[in-house]
Amino acid sequence: MPLSHLSKIKGTYYPPGDKSISHRILILAGQAVGKSKISNLLEGEDVINTLNAMKLFGVQIIKKEKDHFVFGIPPGGLIQPNKTINFGNSGTGIRLILGLISSNNIKAYLTGDKSLCKRPMKRVTEHLSRIGAKFEMKKDTFPPIKLKGTGKAVPLSFNILIPSAQIKSAIMLSALNTNGVIKIKEFKSTRDHTENMLKSMGYNIKVKEVSKYRFIEMKNNKELNTIRYTVPGDPSSAAFFITAACMKPGSKLIVKNILFNKTRIGFIKTLKSMGGNIKIIRKKRVHNELIADLKIQQNKILNSITLMPDEVPLQIDEIPILSIAASFADGLTIFKGLRELTVKESNRLLLINENLKRIGVNSKIKNYDLYIYGNQELKKGGAIIKHEYDHRILMSFYIANIICKKNNIINNKSCVKTSYPTFFKHTSEFIN
Ligand code: S3P
Repeated sequence: MPLSHLSKIKGTYYPPGDKSISHRILILAGQAVGKSKISNLLEGEDVINTLNAMKLFGVQIIKKEKDHFVFGIPPGGLIQPNKTINFGNSGTGIRLILGLISSNNIKAYLTGDKSLCKRPMKRVTEHLSRIGAKFEMKKDTFPPIKLKGTGKAVPLSFNILIPSAQIKSAIMLSALNTNGVIKIKEFKSTRDHTENMLKSMGYNIKVKEVSKYRFIEMKNNKELNTIRYTVPGDPSSAAFFITAACMKPGSKLIVKNILFNKTRIGFIKTLKSMGGNIKIIRKKRVHNELIADLKIQQNKILNSITLMPDEVPLQIDEIPILSIAASFADGLTIFKGLRELTVKESNRLLLINENLKRIGVNSKIKNYDLYIYGNQELKKGGAIIKHEYDHRILMSFYIANIICKKNNIINNKSCVKTSYPTFFKHTSEFIN
């Protein structure tokens, strides 16, 4: 059934496996000698591309019923791939694998789809060049990438100035085959799943958080242990349903097994400060990650907020859906410091603003800040959504149908498969 402004969000919902964790567990289990078991892996296109890349480096991965079994090889033991590695739409896949293989004595050719070939890689390669790896790229930053890794990576200290978990994780993965001590400082907190997983696999890693920065120290004098890992539900996918439930009074949604890592749930804090009624009903810690069950029972009109730049990395992928909430909240919402949104799968800042206007919301961009003039009135809708095959833009503006008088027109919906293959199945189950 198509969504409409009469829809409510109801039911008990299990979000699909987390995308960031799925990439990382495939890579790290692939570097632990022996057999690891992964349950609830996200089988979206992005993750499958990483899985296929690991196979090309000599890691054996077998799917049996719902689980994946990974037979890892030691750091430094990756074999030279015999063909081009295609990462499709995935910035995380290509950047993390760049890091992993840069400290192996192999050559590789990495590419992706039209969107990925427009995304900057220098932010990663400028660090990896320092350890001795060599890169050739279009305009010195865009894929395709020709890489020559080094078997003798130099152990160094890194300062990460752009808030990006992909940059941090790429450096950390290069450290797996670097002799000596590697030190990393990040000046804004970003998702820390690589750190948590390495700890769970017995690796020699220290993480310290002080007020101005986060400090990581890695020493590769211990091998990675194999692991049995159940991937928790993806908060970035659940965000579409949680946000919708906060917007529509009369909704009641139970969310089970959602990853509740503090670097990922900034959007929950934001929704709560807008008046969203979200309660934790159960919380547990597994492999250094918090996992929770939530109850969302909306009974109040949302209010506007101002989001500060420091809070953006903690909800970077949720700004598109939060902008839908903001357009239905009373008053002016400002999301500040959205520069990083301009280099995602699309220029998300421009596309959010463009589509908000198309559906009848008053919004503007000023110096990377997004202004949304919200109110409780239904929007005119009936617009053609411009998504440029960006999965999160598409899903956000599909959900926007619940605040529009007329349904919007969305063509080419298949790009949801990059991160959330069951999105439409879930909308028909939980929104009606
Ligand atoms: C991700 C990091 C984020 C996020 C992406 C997934 C990750 O990108 O937008 O969807 O898994 O490391 P940046 O680290 O570039 O901000």
